[in-house]
Amino acid sequence: MKTMLEGKNVIIGVSGGISAYKACILVSALKQAGADTHVLMTEHAEKFIGRATFEALTGHRVILDTFESEEYLIPHIQLARTADLFMIAPATANIIAKVANGIADDMLSSTFLACNCPKIVVPAMNVNMYNNPATLENIDKLRQRGIEVLEPDEGHLAEGISAKGKLPEPAVLYRAIERAIAYGKDLLGKKIVITAGATREALDPVRFITNHSTGKMGYALAKVAKCRGAEVTVISGKVNKLSDSVETSVFTGIAPANGVMPMEGVKYIEVESAKDMLEAVKNEYKDADCIIMSAAVADFRPQTLADNKIKKNEMQPSEDGSYSLKLERTTDILKWVGERKKDNQILVGFSMETENLIENSTAKLDKKNADMIVANSLRVEGAGFGTDTNKVTLITRDAITELPLMSKEETALNILDEIFSI
Ligand code: CTP
Repeated sequence: MKTMLEGKNVIIGVSGGISAYKACILVSALKQAGADTHVLMTEHAEKFIGRATFEALTGHRVILDTFESEEYLIPHIQLARTADLFMIAPATANIIAKVANGIADDMLSSTFLACNCPKIVVPAMNVNMYNNPATLENIDKLRQRGIEVLEPDEGHLAEGISAKGKLPEPAVLYRAIERAIAYGKDLLGKKIVITAGATREALDPVRFITNHSTGKMGYALAKVAKCRGAEVTVISGKVNKLSDSVETSVFTGIAPANGVMPMEGVKYIEVESAKDMLEAVKNEYKDADCIIMSAAVADFRPQTLADNKIKKNEMQPSEDGSYSLKLERTTDILKWVGERKKDNQILVGFSMETENLIENSTAKLDKKNADMIVANSLRVEGAGFGTDTNKVTLITRDAITELPLMSKEETALNILDEIFSI
């Protein structure tokens, strides 16, 4: 499966902190994702981790001193020229001070100064060193120059206390790289609202009616839209959120995941029922350029919600011995927005069918006043609930475009391309 970072040139600068070991996990993930990755270390980093580790992981020599290279004539310039992104992780107070002040006295700092590509610095150090005005001033300097500086995590530090200064998990660093370089920023200035996942309609405090939606398609749309520069709000039903400490192959998108990973910078509003989702959509849709309804919303909910657990002996059977639940319709949120949206707002619905896919889905365009329906069939292998792939047909008033089977992220990319060409 193609990843978002395939073919990108990434430099990871490693300075001398105990969390340098986490850079190994990051570098391994980048390599698995098909990014050509170079590691540059400071002399102090070598006290924590050997360069042989990074050389084995990247397949490239790790250069510490600008004058030691046999590969290139002017190594820092050669490397800087082709880089798509430079991340320093972990970044000690010392390397932050150096790069903030233009000091270039080793391979890492010289290459950083020579690079024009997007740069991300990830501080990791003792809490007092981090909070020292000198460090904060240097961080501020970097940010003012357009260099992204991530916030360190709070948690257990090497000195035995719990405080701010921890290097974030490799999955978080990986997502920061994806956000920075996976795509061009062609959706800057666009606001996109996405509904995702399944709703739950409660019967009593214990039981509810729901469906098989996992939220993967909606979360993939949010991730790609965010990477392309959009302001993204996800209104999410209950989903299984994966922790950042999952296997690298899961956060790179290479192995199937049994849940979703939220993306930093996306606003997530968590809801439970169709009614909650409608309320959240009412609050969010008005200034959106595009509203994408990928959630699997319950069409019916129990007519009454019991305050206490319904006991078996409280249920009355019918004459034939069967038991019935009284249901009522929920509001069709897609239709609700379709009746109110402005002409310049693009409304996209999803349609999952088991038969007559195109005919049934095309009818929804008019019925719900949508601009596009993303139709997928439960009968196609690799499409539908819980998979990491999808095979959809995009239906607009002008065209019907059948996309091949591809990852949900690639599907999201194609859906967004089509939306913004309407
Ligand atoms: N949808 C919604 N609110 C609902 C039900 C569905 O917003 N209460 C949206 C879904 O998010 C999705 C689309 O409508 O974008 C799916 O519609 P679907 O339920 O398949 O459409 P129906 O016309 O209700 O289809 P069917 O007749 O098959 O039930």
